[in-house]
Amino acid sequence: MILARRVTAPGRVNLIGDHTDYNQGVALPVAIDLGTTAEFTPNGSSLLTFFSTHYPQGISLRRDLPLDPSVLSTLEPPWARLVGAVIAIVGVESGGIGRIETTIPIGAGLSSSASLMVALAGVLGATGSARTIARLCQQAENFSGVPVGIMDPLVSAGGRAGHGMLIDFSDLSTTYVPIPEDAQLVVVDSGVPRTLRFTEYAARVAECEAAASIIGPLGLADDADLAGLRDKRLHRRAHHVVSECARVRQVAAALADGDLEAAGSRLVESHRSLADDFEVSTPEVDALVDHLCSLDGVYGARVTGAGFGGSVVALCRPGAVDVRAFPAGARIVVPSDGTVADADRGNSEVGQLSAAPAGSLGAVAGAD
Ligand code: GLA
Repeated sequence: MILARRVTAPGRVNLIGDHTDYNQGVALPVAIDLGTTAEFTPNGSSLLTFFSTHYPQGISLRRDLPLDPSVLSTLEPPWARLVGAVIAIVGVESGGIGRIETTIPIGAGLSSSASLMVALAGVLGATGSARTIARLCQQAENFSGVPVGIMDPLVSAGGRAGHGMLIDFSDLSTTYVPIPEDAQLVVVDSGVPRTLRFTEYAARVAECEAAASIIGPLGLADDADLAGLRDKRLHRRAHHVVSECARVRQVAAALADGDLEAAGSRLVESHRSLADDFEVSTPEVDALVDHLCSLDGVYGARVTGAGFGGSVVALCRPGAVDVRAFPAGARIVVPSDGTVADADRGNSEVGQLSAAPAGSLGAVAGAD
């Protein structure tokens, strides 16, 4: 009997450490209580068809899709490129029928794309550690045309309930940092459309590569190394990465000490660095950060993820932010488990942890 499989993968909010992952730096993202569920039943055919409530007519893709950006980048709608790239990388033995639903708001900067890919990889039979699954998903997104780093799929696969995941991208080692119980994470959508997101993101990656070709990987550089950068723009970009990595470590230490004031101050500094040095904020996002920081009980706030619009994360006292007051959407997010438990939790396979007989699925899908 061919069994249907179902895998759910969470979205994420990045507490601190943006534009550090593709620079061998460090970051502290958190898997959250919103996610994407993929369900798949093999039927022996040569086509994989996926339906979602966001796209009820469904997409059908060949089982033997080539891992070729010139083919993948022509697939429509755009989220089919991610699905196609995952199919091509995982290498599936049979076509079939699937459904995708998500509770992650699309385009809000909460990694709906990464969670879609991690869930799909699992449901199509990919196995391995969180790192293995994350590498596969990063490669899939890169082949579909966006030069992203590995942070989002890694925390979606390997996050832990109640914790942030301190990731060192130079060797992909991870340390779980407890989020204090008297802290709340609130994510507020700025409502700013992120039309330039992919071109500007690729431009920042290229600038960091240019700086790294002079002083080495930016995540491993220090203030003294920065003196080697004469070009003012490259210097600013590199300064962001170097200072951001220091802040990530300070926030991890402050959370371990329960010092929420100190952690919040680093978040605010991170925002200024992303706005001034890395230039990935907007006036609307800056105003939202200022507003949140003016509220009693908010320790700090910053733009989170790629930037160019998207969402702001606030670290606050429980109840300090009234989420109903934000027209574009705001929510309290709960640090949650990733899809793949780490080996030290006794579950290293996606399938072991998450594959379950499929029942009926209600809603939705799509990707950032
Ligand atoms: C996006 C990318 C990540 C990371 C962040 C910025 O979310 O997918 O790899 O680079 O932007 O920190």
